[in-house]
Amino acid sequence: MSVILIEGGKKLSGALTVQGAKNSVLPMLAATVLCPGVCCMKGCPELSDVETAGQIIRRLGGEVHREGPDLVVDTRNISACEIPRELMCRMRSSVMFLGAILARCGEAVCSQPGGCDLGPRPIDLHLHALRALGAQIKEENGRLHCRCGKLRGAEIFLQIPSVGATENAMLAACQAEGTTVISNAAREPEIVELQDFLRAMGASVRGAGSATVVIEGRKKLHGCTHLVRPDRIVAATYLCAAAATGGCVCLRRAEYRHMASVLCVLQGSGCDVRSDGCGICLKSSGRLRAVPPVRTSPYPGFPTDAQAIMMAALLRSKGSTVFVETLFSDRYRHVPQLQKMGAQIRTRGQTAIVTGTENLHGTAVQATDLRGGAALIVGGLQAEGITRVEQIHHIERGYADIVGDLAGLGACIYTEK
Ligand code: EPZ
Repeated sequence: MSVILIEGGKKLSGALTVQGAKNSVLPMLAATVLCPGVCCMKGCPELSDVETAGQIIRRLGGEVHREGPDLVVDTRNISACEIPRELMCRMRSSVMFLGAILARCGEAVCSQPGGCDLGPRPIDLHLHALRALGAQIKEENGRLHCRCGKLRGAEIFLQIPSVGATENAMLAACQAEGTTVISNAAREPEIVELQDFLRAMGASVRGAGSATVVIEGRKKLHGCTHLVRPDRIVAATYLCAAAATGGCVCLRRAEYRHMASVLCVLQGSGCDVRSDGCGICLKSSGRLRAVPPVRTSPYPGFPTDAQAIMMAALLRSKGSTVFVETLFSDRYRHVPQLQKMGAQIRTRGQTAIVTGTENLHGTAVQATDLRGGAALIVGGLQAEGITRVEQIHHIERGYADIVGDLAGLGACIYTEK
């Protein structure tokens, strides 16, 4: 089992180009199933979750191959409509294929998806949206059997602006007859990117980025080429790392506008953060101060995916910062691991209070989920001595080369096979 070893205390400096966004690529890979054609994702990150999505497409009868940094998907021969349980349980995004397969084949069979363990992650809103479009869905022996004669456009209201349910509904609605209106839709940049991708395939979708997405279905779809946008959570991770250790880094392609809530917290903690036209640059003395309460919420609020990482950035800050996690009920699983390093964090329910300390020390810690794992690395970069991060398969689901990227910025970090 590989582990990541970090010797803390090095300042970070330099520039790097941010990888393509995992949470954009995965729904777009599901979208390729909608059309009989060839799609090329330019700058598609090499991640285990992308590999899993590729395996699902192959199981359905499609072909997937890499051409350097790009991923080419040929869905002309898709004929199967079933996703094996073993692939479903590897990631949450496997459920995104449900809407697309149903739209393409009129039938889909899958099981409950896996993914990071952040507390209960039901899929009731996904199923509600598909039912509204005309799908009949039965659950038998843990398998979901979905069928539809013809999907019909519908008014879909989401009780929660769920990212995944919005995406699943958009995919299925592309092949539904008539107009679909999704209200209380998620507004994340990844939804806008999915809209761009679907439009490039010939679909009629508008409104993404607002709370109402409108799809005129049954357009003839075809293959397309798309340049994947940069990953805002990976960018946030590297900025938090530089903020905590001190130094000056520039992240090429990072989009200021999409990261405003995170950047605002970093500025409040004492960092100088600017957009230089090609990306984002951050300068930090490495001695941060506590910030007003950080409350996670759907976009454009502070992203839940950046909560653990920001918490790790503030481990040595002057004063105490309150975090309130509002999206997932069990997203402080990184806290006991950070405490092993000497972090001063108290949690109560959905609240965590971090009080800065200079006494962080390296030790063996275990990644418990993707972003929690990245937070341990940010902690390790500041700790005295060696931090050994185990269970790094969680981290590899979302970071193409976190070790290479941070080493390139001057961190003392490597992978031990
Ligand atoms: C996406 O997950 C992201 N994953 C997550 O990133 C991210 O944490 C989350 O959005 C919130 O921003 C991908 O895009 C692949 P949701 P998703 O549906 O779609 C509840 C990462 O680290 N809900 O917006 O699963 C749910 O329990 C990952 O990259 C229902 O109740 O998130 C949660 O409380 C982790 N019923 C809230 O909605 C449903 O049917 C938001 O979840 C669906 C969701």
